[in-house]
Amino acid sequence: MDRNFALEFVRVSEAAALSAARLMGRGNEKAADHAAVEAMRKAFDTIAFDGTVKIGEGERDEAPMLFIGEKVGNRKEGSTKLDLALDPLEGTTITAKGGANALSVIAVAEEGKFLHAPDTYMKKIAVGFDARDAIDLNASATENLRNIARAKKCDVRDLTVVVMDRPRHEDLITEIREAGARIWMIGDGDVQAAIATSLPDTGVDVLMGVGGAPEGVIAAAALKCVGGNFQGQLVFRKDDERERASKMGIKDFDRVYTMEELAGANVMFCATGVTDGSMLKGVKFFGGGAKTHSVVMRSETGTIRFIETHHDFSKKIKV
Ligand code: FBP
Repeated sequence: MDRNFALEFVRVSEAAALSAARLMGRGNEKAADHAAVEAMRKAFDTIAFDGTVKIGEGERDEAPMLFIGEKVGNRKEGSTKLDLALDPLEGTTITAKGGANALSVIAVAEEGKFLHAPDTYMKKIAVGFDARDAIDLNASATENLRNIARAKKCDVRDLTVVVMDRPRHEDLITEIREAGARIWMIGDGDVQAAIATSLPDTGVDVLMGVGGAPEGVIAAAALKCVGGNFQGQLVFRKDDERERASKMGIKDFDRVYTMEELAGANVMFCATGVTDGSMLKGVKFFGGGAKTHSVVMRSETGTIRFIETHHDFSKKIKV
């Protein structure tokens, strides 16, 4: 894939972020999500490609737009076929409350290269480049922390672990504390937190815990581009989730997926900040326009571009 589609798709994540950001702090998660979905769906059709949503807003019967299997893009004879793993608004609650780390995100791969992940939970571990060979989701948190510290040539007490603040993480948090590492507890948004493990100056060494499975595939794509590592294992709460997974082709329910199995071959990734975060600044509106901050990454070349865009609403549709 020579064409860096992510450089074109960043206009799509910008459109979604601009629309969602208008609803920051308005206390309406659904409205913020809907605004992002609608803007993203519309913007895709301005780009010449033959896209299929693999990770999206859910099954066709529960999502009117950007559902799994939906075709997007301005398709013509011979258009490049691409699979998409997207989240128009990663952090609906964050946006509704005006918190940190909400993103609009799109990962792109060649056909058949994303894990067809059901909308269940996923146990995750994510690290940056230095510790990429030190993780094993089959091992305990304590063992992982020891190995990560060894790889980073530091003590466990120097490590900062991001964990989502959820009752399901009570045992994990106790174990991390006993191991001696520091914890950064987040309310939502584990995609940005996973990527933060791979970026300098975020102070984050590892993400641990259980979050959304679709978000896991998206995070794996991003970590592949930045040279980090990610492993994930699906977590099912009920039998119907297993049934759904089985229909989507998942055979081994206990399997630990590698980053490559979640997002294989050449992957591209772009994201635009909706609210301020550890990687991206949020949308800033001013009279007659707005400023967005995005990242564009490509696994084939390892290039990471940060893009600050000034939008002039007198020349394009106002949001
Ligand atoms: P939404 O944008 O769909 O609200 O997801 C936010 C998020 O925090 C993800 O980052 C995370 O993977 C997932 O929700 C965790 O789910 P839960 O809130 O059920 O613990």
